[in-house]
Amino acid sequence: MEKLQPTDDYAKFDPEWYLTNYVGTEEASINMRTDLTIYHQFFTQNNIRGKRLLDVGTGPSIHTLLSASNHVDEIILSDYTPQNRQYLENWLNGKTSHPKMMVDFVTSLEGRTVTAEEKENEIRQKVKGILHIDITSEQPLGRDYDGELFDVIITSYCFEAAVTDVPGYKRCIENVSRLLKKGGYLIIGVCLEGDTYQVGEFAYPTMNITKEQVDKAMKESGYEIIASDQIQGTPVDAQFQDFKSYYFFVGK
Ligand SMILES: C[S@@+](CC[C@H](N)C(=O)[O-])C[C@H]1O[C@@H](n2cnc3c(N)ncnc32)[C@H](O)[C@@H]1O
Repeated sequence: MEKLQPTDDYAKFDPEWYLTNYVGTEEASINMRTDLTIYHQFFTQNNIRGKRLLDVGTGPSIHTLLSASNHVDEIILSDYTPQNRQYLENWLNGKTSHPKMMVDFVTSLEGRTVTAEEKENEIRQKVKGILHIDITSEQPLGRDYDGELFDVIITSYCFEAAVTDVPGYKRCIENVSRLLKKGGYLIIGVCLEGDTYQVGEFAYPTMNITKEQVDKAMKESGYEIIASDQIQGTPVDAQFQDFKSYYFFVGK
């Protein structure tokens, strides 16, 4: 990684830089295709279905929804930072599009023939809200949230960015789980054994956590892991972040 300014200030998080560099380039797409293949397999092979899905810490990227949206009726997006929520509003209103090669990639996994625009519009129709969330709070969606629980909660690379230690990671699982119906699915993608990731000129901290620590936190929070996959970091990732591997799982 180049010399960057350390910060934990999410007011400085640049959605455009993040989406372009982690999702929108040919180079980034090598890693992103792996994430998308894993999510596709999770949903199709485990018969995951539900009415309502919450995406926690969506950031500017709807990649987690590309497969998920086929398996639910309603979707709520959420993020901590106003600029990410604004970015998602612009996407929802059709002012921006998710990187086309990634949408097309998932369409090809599904064996469908819809265009990227049609697929994005299908997802947009299911999005019923973009909410502020703070996963460090016992009421992550705030006191005014109407309380309707979710059948599926999905979150990618978020908890480890929001807390600094393993007990904090476990509290995020517990806080978010208050929003999940009993018997629902919690699907997580987590960066393992690294300390930092780049957004523009800034280096954001992440907590250094192992697969064993994540599994233990899930088990202690009452989950059984019904599907999982782990991939090693690549030289492409090393350009912007320092994680050893990435772990994806479905908790029930
Ligand atoms: C590394 S980005 C991941 C974005 C996206 N989910 C993805 O996979 O590309 C981390 C996200 O966590 C969000 N975040 C940071 N602190 C948070 C908190 N306390 N509660 C909820 N989200 C938070 C950030 O705004 C950012 O969008």
